[in-house]
Amino acid sequence: MSKYRIAWMPGDGIGIDVMEAARIVLDALNLDAEYIPADIGWYFWCTEGDPLPQRTIDILKTCSCGLFGAITSKPKDEAALELVPELQEAGLSYRSPIVQLRQLFDLYTNLRPCKAYPGNPLNYRDDIDLVVFRENTEGLYSGVEFYPLDDDLRATLIQFNSRMSRFNEAPGDEIAVSLRVITKSGARRIVRQAFEYARKHGYPTVTLVEKPNVLRETSGLMTREARAVAGNYPEIELWETNIDAQMMWLLKNPHDYGVLVTSNMFGDIVSDLSAQLVGGLGFASSGNIGDDFAIFEPTHGSAPKYAGQHKVNPTAMLLAVKLMLNWLGEAEMAQTLETAIAGMIAEGKVRTYDMGGNSSTLDVAHAIVAKFK
Ligand code: NAI
Ligand code: MG
Repeated sequence: MSKYRIAWMPGDGIGIDVMEAARIVLDALNLDAEYIPADIGWYFWCTEGDPLPQRTIDILKTCSCGLFGAITSKPKDEAALELVPELQEAGLSYRSPIVQLRQLFDLYTNLRPCKAYPGNPLNYRDDIDLVVFRENTEGLYSGVEFYPLDDDLRATLIQFNSRMSRFNEAPGDEIAVSLRVITKSGARRIVRQAFEYARKHGYPTVTLVEKPNVLRETSGLMTREARAVAGNYPEIELWETNIDAQMMWLLKNPHDYGVLVTSNMFGDIVSDLSAQLVGGLGFASSGNIGDDFAIFEPTHGSAPKYAGQHKVNPTAMLLAVKLMLNWLGEAEMAQTLETAIAGMIAEGKVRTYDMGGNSSTLDVAHAIVAKFK
């Protein structure tokens, strides 16, 4: 029996291409693992009405962790139109399977490192080293949304908060509400993860990115909890910034920042900007991490226009493999992989289109493998 069981979820589009690259690298590293294919994504939505079939959840429950490529996701109405005819009338509603997985397995930390590897022509500046901790299960992506808005619900909201009366005139089908739900324990555990990481890796600051002057309750709660957690880490300074200004500061002075921590939607935004500072989506890896389970993935989506062409950069995926190896406790293998990736970038011979070259996705994987000692 292998040491690890890894759920293998290529998903859609270029997710399939970059997972092929991941497999080449994992096989060369000789990780003692069994890879269990698991269905996820658009095809299963269209044909079965479920982009995350129960059989996939069952597989995940038997695995050490999961590796995920990317999925195609579409807004509700568009999604409904693509169902096979026999499911058209079934009243099904599309929800992103990766968002579902994060909530289902309580993978509350979304870890998104953004590091400028020397020699990458796409680096915004050299020496950028940011790590974003994005809360992954709550906030504006909790999925608690209302449309059309029910009259009783509206009346109740007005009863509890008079500011809602301003929205009393719009007919129910002309108003939509998405709730930003943040719990004390949710806020506390994500901030704690950020501080633990900063301590372990020697970062002098943790920056909380919120907007408490406007989002008084939810960002206010995040801020209070961050301050409480920070008290346990006297050697690390807590900086508090607003999301809008932080976007400007990240562009202006990216070197001032190290570990950033924030709620779900702000984290989605901060991490894409941070990714662009170090070469774009082809370099942005992420881990969805809970207390005893995790799923690793590149940050990018399925990029349908490049699907199946083996054209895109697998580095983001391979850095996600590195995160997985670290999480599994295979630190030496993780280091071998990162050193090889850094070496391949520094050498500059094998480059995919985004880096100005014409190497293929698999060329990159083979070039990295060639650097393993
Ligand atoms: P995307 O990330 O798929 O691609 C945007 C553009 O970024 C691509 O057209 C390409 O130019 C570039 N790009 C992405 N990955 C790259 C790579 N590895 N190497 C080089 N260039 C790369 O985002 P888009 O186009 O907004 O969404 C496409 C689909 O993916 C949608 O259905 C969306 O909902 C879904 N999506 C899924 C995610 C996931 O699986 N976690 C995350 C983001 C989007
Ligand atoms: Mg995103």
